[in-house]
Amino acid sequence: MEIIIQPTLEQATGLTARLFSNFMREKPDAVLGLATGGTMEALYGALVATNLDWSRITTFNLDEYIGISPQHPQSYHSFMWKNLFNHVNVPVKNVHIPDGLAKSIPAECETYERKIFAAGGIDLQLLGIGTDGHIGFNEPTSSLASRTRIKTLTPQTRKDNARFFGSEELVPHHAITMGIGTILESRYCVLLAFGARKAKAVAEAVEGPITSMNPASALQLHPKVTVILDEAAAVGLTNKDYYHWVYDQNPDRHEY
Ligand code: PGA
Repeated sequence: MEIIIQPTLEQATGLTARLFSNFMREKPDAVLGLATGGTMEALYGALVATNLDWSRITTFNLDEYIGISPQHPQSYHSFMWKNLFNHVNVPVKNVHIPDGLAKSIPAECETYERKIFAAGGIDLQLLGIGTDGHIGFNEPTSSLASRTRIKTLTPQTRKDNARFFGSEELVPHHAITMGIGTILESRYCVLLAFGARKAKAVAEAVEGPITSMNPASALQLHPKVTVILDEAAAVGLTNKDYYHWVYDQNPDRHEY
C-alpha cells in the first residue's frame, strides 16, 4: 500500500487530480470506478478544470441510495451530474450508476456486476472512507467477498450523511453498493480521506488487522492501492514518518 500524506486538503486534492489526469491521458479508454461524498466534490471540480477528454471513458459509480429518485437532489445520480458529468464530454451511455428505484434490487445488482465484467473490469477505482471504515456503502461486518447488493446503512453513516439531507430522518436506510469483492477486483484503488474525523478509520484500515469491522482494511489484500491523506486524517498512523520518507525518496511520484 502506498501512503501519500499532504499538508493540506487542497494539496491532497490537487495531487489526486494530477494522478487521475495522468492515468486518463495514458489510458484514454479507461473504465473508472467513481465515488461520491463531500471528499470528492473538490476533486471533481479540479478534474473538470483540466479539460480532459472523456469521450472514450466508461464510468461505474460505487453506490446509490434505495428509495429516492435519480432527480432527488441528494441522490448520487444528482451528485455525479452536478459535480462532474454535466461538465465533461463523457457519453451518457458510458455512465453507470445503480438504480435505487429498480423494481427488483437483486436483479439490478446482478446486472450491474455483469456490466462491469462486460466493460472489461475497472481500471481505477476511486474510494472515500466512512468514519466507520466503510468503502462504498460496505458497512462494518460486510463480507470481504461481497458483490454488488443491498446494504442497510449504520446509524453512524446516517448521522454522518444527515448534513446533506438536512436531518437524519430523511437519510435513506438502504443502498445498493458494489461489494468488497467487486472493489478488490479493480486493477488499481485510490482511497482519499481528509480531516481529523477520518483519522481513526484510516489508521485501522492501513495499519490495523484485516477485519470486516473496518471494511477498508480489506484493501490490504489488494496488490495496488494508493491512499492519499491530508495531515489531519493521518494523525493516527504509527508509521507516518516512514510513509513521508518513502514518498520523499520517490521523485516519480512528485510529478503528481
Ligand atoms: P464523505 O464520505 O466524503 O462525505 O466524508 C465518505 C464516505 O462515506 O465514503
